[in-house]
Amino acid sequence: MQATVKILYIGDIFGRPGRRIVKESLPEIVREHAPDLILANGENAAAGFGITPGLVEELLDLGISVLTSGNHIWDKKEIVSYMTERADGRLLRPANYPEHVPGRGLYVGKTRAGLEYAVLNLQGRVFMPAIDCPFQKADALLATIPDSVKIRMVDMHAEATSEKSAMGWYLDGRVTAMVGTHTHIPTADEVVLPQGTAYITDLGMTGPYESVIGIEKDAAIRKFLSQIPERFEVAKKDIRFCAVMVEADPATGRAVSIERIVRKY
Ligand SMILES: [Fe+2]
Repeated sequence: MQATVKILYIGDIFGRPGRRIVKESLPEIVREHAPDLILANGENAAAGFGITPGLVEELLDLGISVLTSGNHIWDKKEIVSYMTERADGRLLRPANYPEHVPGRGLYVGKTRAGLEYAVLNLQGRVFMPAIDCPFQKADALLATIPDSVKIRMVDMHAEATSEKSAMGWYLDGRVTAMVGTHTHIPTADEVVLPQGTAYITDLGMTGPYESVIGIEKDAAIRKFLSQIPERFEVAKKDIRFCAVMVEADPATGRAVSIERIVRKY
């Protein structure tokens, strides 16, 4: 067994600029860091709101193994049926949506080299839709993962820093990493918690930063000033790639390091 495994987790891919920088940066990052597994949050890939089946395929074709999501996953209607059609489960929706909702929030699979891994997608409830408890859902789903699967990655898609921090501590020692997504602003608090779980409050967006969380800033400001709905367009400038590389012991699943990886145009 190799000494450590490396998992690259890419933050919320936002619109065409986000997709473009992933496509252009990934080959070099792969050459430099040789990750064993690449994961990403893709819920804003389609012009900032949702993801289409075509874009799921496009992102998976770049070498991403599993896409996680969040509250915007249902924005494009065609994704609802596609979630069921794509039976291999490589597009996840948050696990704590009601049971009858299409799709799944847990993926268990193997890398091409044969390394078993699991990806769990959760969504917070503070300042977000009132879905089921992500803490209890995490307990229930982690209990279903076979013991042999040591590499366990969690995307906690949530607005509140406190809820993500609490989840990190709650899962410490039970998963390889918990990364936060959704706020589109990277945090500088990456850490390996005492029991071996790598943690970061938010990966940050992979998209245009001369914006208000990805949207053209002038329209966002006008909306805050007037409270009248605006047509939101994807911003175009200051495009950044935000991710973390987690290194872990494949025998135990414990993280040994977490490092932020940022690229800019
Ligand atoms: Fe979100």
